[in-house]
Amino acid sequence: MERIGVGLIGTGFMGKCHAMAYGAVKAVFGDVPVIDRVALCDVDQGHTRKRAEEWGFARATTDWRDLLANSEIALVSITSPNGLHREMAVAALDAGKHVWCEKPMALTLADAEAMTQAAAKANGQATALGYGYLRNPALQYAKRLIEEGAIGEAFDFRGSVDEDYMADPDLAWSWRLKAREAGLGTLGDLTVHLISLAQELMGPIASLTAMVDVVHEERPVPGGHERAKVENDDIAHALLRFASGARGVMTSSRVAHGRKNGLKVEVHGSKGMLWLDNERMNELNLYLAEGPPERRGFRRILSAPHHADYGRLCPAPGHGLGFNELKVIELAELLYGVTGRPSASVTFAQGLEIEKVIHAFARSAAKGQWVRVG
Ligand SMILES: NC(=O)c1ccc[n+]([C@@H]2O[C@H](COP(=O)([O-])OP(=O)(O)OC[C@H]3O[C@@H](n4cnc5c(N)ncnc54)[C@H](O)[C@@H]3O)[C@@H](O)[C@H]2O)c1
Repeated sequence: MERIGVGLIGTGFMGKCHAMAYGAVKAVFGDVPVIDRVALCDVDQGHTRKRAEEWGFARATTDWRDLLANSEIALVSITSPNGLHREMAVAALDAGKHVWCEKPMALTLADAEAMTQAAAKANGQATALGYGYLRNPALQYAKRLIEEGAIGEAFDFRGSVDEDYMADPDLAWSWRLKAREAGLGTLGDLTVHLISLAQELMGPIASLTAMVDVVHEERPVPGGHERAKVENDDIAHALLRFASGARGVMTSSRVAHGRKNGLKVEVHGSKGMLWLDNERMNELNLYLAEGPPERRGFRRILSAPHHADYGRLCPAPGHGLGFNELKVIELAELLYGVTGRPSASVTFAQGLEIEKVIHAFARSAAKGQWVRVG
């Protein structure tokens, strides 16, 4: 396949991110098809037409079904709010399209299962979910170090994901706070990313016990004096047991003042320890319990061309990649899947395993006890 037509639904934060990835992926990864940006969809025609011009899409529409009916489009990006993912993804798969859908998959586990079933009965189309942090070369190097035994037996995981985009109690109410449009709160927005990293480094999570809370229970409705009830979680913490027998801790918050992209993972092993903080995403910190004790300490490894896909984007060590560049790598992996090559995409089937974990958090918190994932 030398060319592929793409359609993009949504022009918000992630819509622009996907658009930039479509613009860059061929230049970065020469071995992928040329991208034809066929159609862009959002709810307002004037706005969508303007964005289509800016982002290089040939057409603008306000009807996503119209976009799916376009035979020039083989791959569809879904960057609309969570409550639309199931309907759009299943319809796209039914229309024979490859699908790149943002996380979380859907509002409920049943919706995520329906999407996975639609992908399983599709005619070989590729699916990918928006887990771009997995593509960080520093994270992939951490995974390699663990697999090679550099830190010995990896027996303990510590992870946190904190942001402050909801920290102001008077921040206006939005779709993200409504169960019918967003599903779970911090769990669907942030914890899913942390789970994706934890499972990448440590394998599947088998069971957990969680505490899930709303901190700011009401928020002002935009343009009025009323306040609306917040319907999903601000904070979600858990103790974990991995299938390997390793243990772990996860904390997540969308009301953590000062944290902007505080996605951190730390793995303790019998011979050393490593940690990574996405606010400094080009640095991997490694401690090896070897050599003279007086010389021991963490070494800070800066991402460089010999780490995973870094060299595709930048030939100079330590110059650093950013959030949007991870999305380019994520898209390249999807295009490898589309063209029948080995791909590291998080497929719908794999994403369902992440959804099972966040719903296990909610179940455990409701019951006040340990639950098995699944
Ligand atoms: N992977 C990540 O790191 C990451 C980061 C942020 C958001 N997300 C996910 O991306 C998705 C979108 O989040 P966002 O921050 O871009 O939201 P956003 O509010 O910035 O953008 C959503 C867009 O979808 C449009 N839209 C709504 N209904 C539509 C419809 N019927 N047809 C076409 N367009 C429609 C809206 O008008 C808006 O432009 C969510 O699922 C979110 O969880 C992922």
